[in-house]
Amino acid sequence: MNPKVTDWHRKRVWVIGASTGIGAETARLLLEKGAFVALSARRADALAAVADHHKNALIATLDMVDHATVLEARDKVLRQWQGIDLVLVVAGAYNEMRADTFDLAVANKMIDMNIRGVFNCLDAVLPSLLAQGSGGIGIVSSVAGFRGLPKALVYGPTKAALINLCESLYLDLRPRGLAVHLINPGFVETPLTAGNDFKMPALISARTAAQELLGGIERGEFHIHFPRRFTNWLRMARLLPYRLYFWLIHKGTGL
Ligand SMILES: NC(=O)c1ccc[n+]([C@@H]2O[C@H](COP(=O)([O-])OP(=O)(O)OC[C@H]3O[C@@H](n4cnc5c(N)ncnc54)[C@H](OP(=O)(O)O)[C@@H]3O)[C@@H](O)[C@H]2O)c1
Repeated sequence: MNPKVTDWHRKRVWVIGASTGIGAETARLLLEKGAFVALSARRADALAAVADHHKNALIATLDMVDHATVLEARDKVLRQWQGIDLVLVVAGAYNEMRADTFDLAVANKMIDMNIRGVFNCLDAVLPSLLAQGSGGIGIVSSVAGFRGLPKALVYGPTKAALINLCESLYLDLRPRGLAVHLINPGFVETPLTAGNDFKMPALISARTAAQELLGGIERGEFHIHFPRRFTNWLRMARLLPYRLYFWLIHKGTGL
């Protein structure tokens, strides 16, 4: 559904959310594969640790919820590279929440980060990508965006919004020569999931997640989801009628 990537050598990839977890491992893997990698997030020291003095690494700190800093980082990247082949918006925020512990301030923070923050990134990169007529965008959502789940009262809707966004972006951008990738991980061992107090099914390492993510892009996939032994079940559960879906989730999670 997108052009295949057969060689990462000298490809210019901007990874937003590259200081820990899936984004950090994706940045490391891309550097190993010979790409030029711009690493962005808020913490410069953590980004420097990931970049590890690699000659192809460029650090551009930003706060995704602060539009001006996203534009500054974009300008820094474009000054250095004169163009971008792939933007990966990986950063995201997760706070467990159920209806009986609803907290509007925390909800708004998650919405600011997971939705408005992604739009800030789009605003920064769309004009130059459209002018180039080549390159692409990958956005990390989550299988939690497929359907309603317990403990995902706000996180789930923010990720559902990103799934819808990627579908619309694909329809708009693919005819203009750009690639669009929707990336839906299952459970990945990262700081984001470190606080989970339940057994996470089919948990994978951040390294494996990064390999799956880049593998999907290499194959030109629109919908990149992993690990498939888990995500395929959830994809099928999307098709179930509500009565059966609610029963299954209740049974499966005990919640
Ligand atoms: N782990 C999972 O099981 C899982 C499953 C499905 C989907 N996901 C999604 O995968 C993505 C990556 O998650 P992860 O597990 O790798 O989490 P993580 O290790 O917590 O990484 C989050 C990244 O986002 C950056 N970030 C957070 N707030 C930011 C902000 N305001 N501005 C710029 N960067 C910011 C963090 O860097 P700084 O703190 O330095 O800014 C960090 O680099 C997220 O979108 C998450 O929703 C994760």
